[in-house]
Amino acid sequence: PEKGLKDYYKNYFPIGVAVNPRMVQPGPDAELIKTHFNSMTPENAMKMGPIHPEENRYNWKDADAIADFAQQNNIKLRGHTLCWHNQTPRWFFTDSTGKTVSREVLLARLKRHISDVVGRYKGKIYAWDVVNEAVPDAGPDLYRKSKFYEIIGEDYIEKAFEFAHEADPAAQLFYNDYNTENPSKRDRIYQLVKKLKDKGVPINGVGLQAHWSIYEPSAQELEASILKFASLGLKLQFTEVDMSVYPKEHERRDHRDTDKSEFTPEMDEKQAAQYKMVFDLFRKHRDKITGVTFWNLSDRSSWLDNFPVPGRKDYPLLFDQNGRPKKAFDRVVQF
Ligand code: XIL
Repeated sequence: PEKGLKDYYKNYFPIGVAVNPRMVQPGPDAELIKTHFNSMTPENAMKMGPIHPEENRYNWKDADAIADFAQQNNIKLRGHTLCWHNQTPRWFFTDSTGKTVSREVLLARLKRHISDVVGRYKGKIYAWDVVNEAVPDAGPDLYRKSKFYEIIGEDYIEKAFEFAHEADPAAQLFYNDYNTENPSKRDRIYQLVKKLKDKGVPINGVGLQAHWSIYEPSAQELEASILKFASLGLKLQFTEVDMSVYPKEHERRDHRDTDKSEFTPEMDEKQAAQYKMVFDLFRKHRDKITGVTFWNLSDRSSWLDNFPVPGRKDYPLLFDQNGRPKKAFDRVVQF
């Protein structure tokens, strides 16, 4: 059989991919997953909105299809995500008259949600992103002013971890966030996680999303993150790796040049070099890294298509629009 990414990396760490329920139906996507990946994360299917659309109704179908595929094919499964300010239904925060609920009610809802979802996949999901993106991008604050924070207070985070731990004491519990190479945000995530750890909150790891571009981060910035987060003594995973061919919004200098939506030979080359740089560092720090997951399967479809710029296609992954390995793939497996 064809040698897959996971085979090249079998002595390093599991290689994962974010999937939607269509991809696990028989077909080329499912084959690509089976060849290259030994870990999966549901891209959306286990988020609050999709899985718990109404207070007394769960939609298990899509999440179950993904969990079944993982089990049948001996692929590890990460759960994503139990508590996030996005993709959370309005009902969560309001009562039947539309009034915002109290701290007690919201905590009870969070507890029920987490015990039901974690409980259902107990033994099938080895790691959960318990709280996602709780730290603001800029400013001095540790806590994003989300509804969870406003209604419950800062202890919503430790409560979420406690609820998850009660529901599956064997699952590894992660705090997950992005922009972790930004020095200010990196420090504030570090402080938040350190506080949790020092308090005895059942947290096992930090997930660094890694929504990067062919222009950033630099090797120095990335290595600084790896060393800083590893110093917490927790597990470290790269949970949502992709490499946009466009500069991130805040450093886009020339919109005209970057909005053509073509994958140029220059982008191909620059992306291969950037992927090589980050995987060289991942391998160098294999003793600290317990998983690397790509956010989507191939350039045929990525969450970065039309985001953040409507009408713009992106090419952030190792496989092209036909599922064939790109130059970046070759660089990642040549070592
Ligand atoms: C994204 C999905 O890929 C999209 O399909 C969805 O519309 C929005 O969310 N950080 C996360 C992921 O933790 O859950 C997000 O996934 C991407 C950014």
